[in-house]
Amino acid sequence: MSMKMRALVVTRPGGPEVLAVREVDRPRLRDENDVIVRVKACGINPADWQNRENGAVYDEDGRGTHSPTILGIDGVGVIEEVGSNVDQFRVGDEVWYVDGGYAGNPGSYAEFKVVRGDYVGAKPKTVGFVEAAALPVVGLTAWEAVFDKGRVRVGDYVLVHGGAGGLGHIAIQYLNTLGVRIAATVSGDAKASFVRQLGAERVINYREESVEESLLRWRGEPGANVVFDFVGHSNFAESFKHTADYGRLVNTVVSDWPAGGNAMAEWKNMELGFVNIGLPQISRSHALRLRQVDVLNKIATMVDAGNLRVHIDRVVPFEGVAQAQRALKAGETIGRPVLSI
Ligand SMILES: NC(=O)c1ccc[n+]([C@@H]2O[C@H](COP(=O)([O-])OP(=O)(O)OC[C@H]3O[C@@H](n4cnc5c(N)ncnc54)[C@H](OP(=O)(O)O)[C@@H]3O)[C@@H](O)[C@H]2O)c1
Repeated sequence: MSMKMRALVVTRPGGPEVLAVREVDRPRLRDENDVIVRVKACGINPADWQNRENGAVYDEDGRGTHSPTILGIDGVGVIEEVGSNVDQFRVGDEVWYVDGGYAGNPGSYAEFKVVRGDYVGAKPKTVGFVEAAALPVVGLTAWEAVFDKGRVRVGDYVLVHGGAGGLGHIAIQYLNTLGVRIAATVSGDAKASFVRQLGAERVINYREESVEESLLRWRGEPGANVVFDFVGHSNFAESFKHTADYGRLVNTVVSDWPAGGNAMAEWKNMELGFVNIGLPQISRSHALRLRQVDVLNKIATMVDAGNLRVHIDRVVPFEGVAQAQRALKAGETIGRPVLSI
């Protein structure tokens, strides 16, 4: 058996041109707790192009000893090899996971991936590898945003910024289960009809109308009770205006505060929540990793019950990832692009 594999590597921080298909060493079991997964597909997430550009693909000390390195922060595949301590999975099992892709832990833009056995979950049975691959990161992040941080109440008016994106389209489906009224922002007609089909009652094309005015006409009072900001940057500051008095704002993107700092939040008695699904990996918290696997298991159950559908923007081979990352960065995608291996 060849101990080499094909992978899409990053040779240095930079634009899409630094992505290259290479023959690299296959990962090995690091200890008896690991499994080797034959990767079938993985999500192409914004973190991938962000890590490619900002160099977070390198080791914690920045020396890049694992360079050239491999992006891809989630994946789905078939177990190829199990460590002697792994008793919950066997060779041939179909699994998914959120693991690696930065900070010295190679990701899933590759034919094989080593993961600790505790950190993989059984893939949903009713969908194929490509569909499943679109879900781990977006499913987990939107879960933490909606169910852990959002704390919506029945009848709440809820705004989802970036409604047609990876996080947004899954968050809308989670919110559908909670008896709330949903508004979503989008940039064009195709995205508008997509979020309407998902269940958004109010669709706001922010390029053509004021979000604040649209929310006022919808709710009869300023702002939404809960706002999910899946866009960030200047949209985070704008989102303070979109949040009702005593409302809650949940964000997933590192952003600057509004010009007045926390003044508007304090004035409105707002609550703020943030999600960073990478922290358990970076801080090496075993308990928090297990908690995330538990959420992945719940998402798999939801998919298999027919209550969650992921939308695939496009499916590409290694050679198509650069273009898919460009489109993702430009906000041109709907749902999630997937790399099929
Ligand atoms: N903290 C975490 O743990 C975590 C986890 C996952 C993702 N994230 C971050 O959360 C954000 C959303 O993730 P995602 O997977 O939903 O991303 P996505 O699929 O790219 O969706 C983001 C949406 O933002 C909208 N947008 C508005 N202005 C934009 C602009 N200038 N450039 C690009 N898009 C713009 C786009 O929709 P319109 O065209 O309709 O405006 C786009 O669909 C990303 O920044 C991602 O890195 C964070």
